[in-house]
Amino acid sequence: MCGIVAYVGEKNAYEILIKGLKRLEYRGYDSAGVAMISNNHEFLHYKCKGKVSNLEEHVGQQSVDAHIGIGHTRWATHGPANDVNAHPHLSGNEELALIHNGIIENYDVLKKELTSRGHNFVSDTDTEVLVHLIEEVKKQEDVGLFEAVRLALHQVTGAYAIVVIDKSNPRELIAAKKSSPLVIGMGEDDFFIGSDATPIVEYTNNVVYLEDGEIAHISLDTGLKIRKLDNKVITPTIQELQIQLEALEKGGYEHFMLKEIFEQPKTIKDCMRGRISAQKGHVSLGGILDYQDKILNARRMIIIACGTSWHAGLVGEYLLEDLARIPVEVEYASEFRYRNPVIYEDDVVLAISQSGETADTLAAIKLAKEKGATILGICNVVGSTISRETHAGSYTHAGPEIGVASTKAFTAQVTVLSLLALMLAKRKGTVEKSRLNRLLFELESIPDKVTEALKTDAACELISEIYKNSSNALYLGRGYSFPVALEGALKLKEISYIHAEGYPAAEMKHGPIALIDEEMPVFVVATKGPSYEKVISNIQEVKARKGKVIVISTKGDEYIKEMADHYIEIPETEEMFMPILATIPFQLLSYHMAVMRGCNVDQPRNLAKAVTVE
Ligand code: F6R
Repeated sequence: MCGIVAYVGEKNAYEILIKGLKRLEYRGYDSAGVAMISNNHEFLHYKCKGKVSNLEEHVGQQSVDAHIGIGHTRWATHGPANDVNAHPHLSGNEELALIHNGIIENYDVLKKELTSRGHNFVSDTDTEVLVHLIEEVKKQEDVGLFEAVRLALHQVTGAYAIVVIDKSNPRELIAAKKSSPLVIGMGEDDFFIGSDATPIVEYTNNVVYLEDGEIAHISLDTGLKIRKLDNKVITPTIQELQIQLEALEKGGYEHFMLKEIFEQPKTIKDCMRGRISAQKGHVSLGGILDYQDKILNARRMIIIACGTSWHAGLVGEYLLEDLARIPVEVEYASEFRYRNPVIYEDDVVLAISQSGETADTLAAIKLAKEKGATILGICNVVGSTISRETHAGSYTHAGPEIGVASTKAFTAQVTVLSLLALMLAKRKGTVEKSRLNRLLFELESIPDKVTEALKTDAACELISEIYKNSSNALYLGRGYSFPVALEGALKLKEISYIHAEGYPAAEMKHGPIALIDEEMPVFVVATKGPSYEKVISNIQEVKARKGKVIVISTKGDEYIKEMADHYIEIPETEEMFMPILATIPFQLLSYHMAVMRGCNVDQPRNLAKAVTVE
């Protein structure tokens, strides 16, 4: 949520900031802006509503010669997306410029106090209040920028990642963080800052992740110095980035989402690499191995997540209960954190998050930690806050996911959950050895079956052409396919803006059936498995009411072809691995419908990739 980039060194700051903002645009794209300090100590300050490309147009051919600057791409929280509310914001005396990701919760109180001291505000944002506060503290206490930021942050409640510059000092950046991520890149003789590593990776692999409550003083004269808010000195730990630059490019695809959908055979393979060998009867998740007995002796497992990751959590519940016979509850992190849940010390909480930065998931983790539970994580972004806040965990290794709609992260999450359930089942002996081995072989074959499932692309495109103008859609599935129905509906609504609902197929007759008429496309997962016959009955119920049925079926199922208006065939697999395969056509259908409707699939309206505000 909101992208932050900053630079100080000898290079052209404007080029680095614009390139960085383009890489970060998936985090927010309501407006964008930059502030740089010119060689004669003036701010070069440009900002406007819309995308980074609008900002570039706005700057036009003006020569922007600066070696220090800050840039921001916004996802609006306080105040609408317009030129004035875009970051960076300047202090009242126009000496300081600041960019911010997060929410200052007490901004209203601070604003009233500062207004009574003569400050005037031009925007509706909480961020502008913060830069005025720093200006006020700097003046009142007669201190330098670092100290002013440190003292000002003592008065602030909420979440922030900020970078501040002072136009009288073009060799210094001050950055601070609480509950919103910030990474510092260490160049040869320059420094970079990003809200994630994507704008940095092109220049350096050496990074320092700022921790909550830390302030960084970055100076071309004295280097990087970090202190806590209480002034305690922190020794920075430099880590090496693993991201490849190509992973941040579209690689010939029209959209990141399409590229990421087609990457799935590889990402699932990467996710399983070294963790499974059916030949040897081996399955293990190194990061969680030491916690196996803790999980098996736990009272229950609570899975917490949001959005698509929550859907993966539901598949996880089915897998863990089915294979390892562990009681599992799946909770929306945003509900869990506020509903005073009962958490025992012998609970194991498993947080699932692609970004590893989702504010609600983080808050839920902190709550469960306070109550003494063991916290495990499944994250995609290496080094993310959630991966550092948990006691142990496993990465999904899907590589950077840039398209805002989650695709490859979902299938990788389900793959990790499958490995986890199989590892625990093996340890606990809840699955007979021969069956366990069959399941291991089947899971190993899934990347090839995903390649097969991707061949439905042309069929998905044809079907999308027919239904692209629908106003509503229903997605149905039973058992393991119920979360797939939820995920299919979420994908469609978030990128094509067609209203869609996911339902357990049998629940349809308890209400949603009233919606069905000849205008209503109903997407049904009806693959071969224990609930096949039941789903057939549900399809008949839809047909009887003239609904249009689009079926995801097992390859070679002639019977269902007769019944459905359209069918999309995917390879046969064990029911428990079907979510990985059945979700592929749903991803493709929503992609094509969104493109045909002229929607921006990679950056759908009102959304952002990492939801770092609650
Ligand atoms: C949907 C989507 C979101 C995320 C949700 C959680 O396509 O991407 O629903 O799944 O915001 O994000 P993470 O997994 O980063 O915690």
